[in-house]
Amino acid sequence: MEQSTTSDPSPTPATIVITGASDGIGAAAAQQLAGQGSRLLLVGRSPQKTAAVAQDVGAEHFVADFARLADVRRLADELSEATTEHGIDALANNAGGIFGDRTPTADGFEKTFQINHLAPFLLTTLLLPRLLAGGASVVNTSSVAHRLFGHLDLEDLANARRYSPRKAYGDAKLANVLFTRSLREKFHDQGLFSAAFHPGLVRTSFSTGSTSPMRWLYQSPLARLAPMISPEQGGATLAWFLTGTPGSTWTSGRYYDQDRPATRMNPQADDLELAEALWQRSAELVGLPPTP
Ligand SMILES: NC(=O)c1ccc[n+]([C@@H]2O[C@H](COP(=O)([O-])OP(=O)(O)OC[C@H]3O[C@@H](n4cnc5c(N)ncnc54)[C@H](OP(=O)(O)O)[C@@H]3O)[C@@H](O)[C@H]2O)c1
Repeated sequence: MEQSTTSDPSPTPATIVITGASDGIGAAAAQQLAGQGSRLLLVGRSPQKTAAVAQDVGAEHFVADFARLADVRRLADELSEATTEHGIDALANNAGGIFGDRTPTADGFEKTFQINHLAPFLLTTLLLPRLLAGGASVVNTSSVAHRLFGHLDLEDLANARRYSPRKAYGDAKLANVLFTRSLREKFHDQGLFSAAFHPGLVRTSFSTGSTSPMRWLYQSPLARLAPMISPEQGGATLAWFLTGTPGSTWTSGRYYDQDRPATRMNPQADDLELAEALWQRSAELVGLPPTP
């Protein structure tokens, strides 16, 4: 198992940030982590839902719509301010989902790609000083959809040529895996750790706002017959990554199928040149300077 060269990460992170914490897997993870001694900073899109979960678990809460990068920049400022003293020990980039059409966001990007990839890319990059200070674990909720439906074309990240909700979702979740690899490549020597995982087929609000057939799998009455796991089970896997010791519990830079290293990957997931090109292209799109 891989061990850090520069840091001795704490087995129970003190400060944990979870996006997508107002519902589903993120909310369930927050509920399970509550009362274990960690400081929880919960992020959601809906102010009411986020406040309710935070109140329930005794956490601080923050609101941002990832379809607006200005919200993400403000969120990064607020989280940086809130963690000035001790940094961040773990960040769950968990907000996301599959959406309906190609209506561009306020920033002019395809919505699925922005919410699932560009927004967490921007948030993580802006939080790097706090993440490095905490020797943090960055845990990205990806999906098996990265393997089933994803094929990235850097010249057409918005899928202008071949859009479908599930292709856009698969591409964005493949971007999560490549981002995880790049975080390891760039920051492992500075004590930052990263993992991506598929949480399983989890019975949540996933796909509610989508026109994709996936909506019927998750949200129709017949969904009760599908072999799905509970939000608590999905949340337990996320909590396992957030509280685990990288290099011992899990290996940095890897993609997991729930809590097991995945054996079947999208062929593009191992392409470090693509990962690097995606990083630099993403930085350009969100207006950040290139990262060495
Ligand atoms: N459920 C599954 O079977 C499954 C499988 C593979 C991967 N995943 C991934 O798991 C993650 C969590 O999904 P879930 O199943 O827990 O679904 P969920 O119940 O729909 O929760 C999604 C979370 O993401 C937040 N979110 C959605 N759009 C957002 C936006 N524009 N800005 C900010 N936050 C936004 C939601 O906030 P609000 O509730 O406040 O709107 C909610 O907290 C997602 O990344 C999803 O792709 C899920």
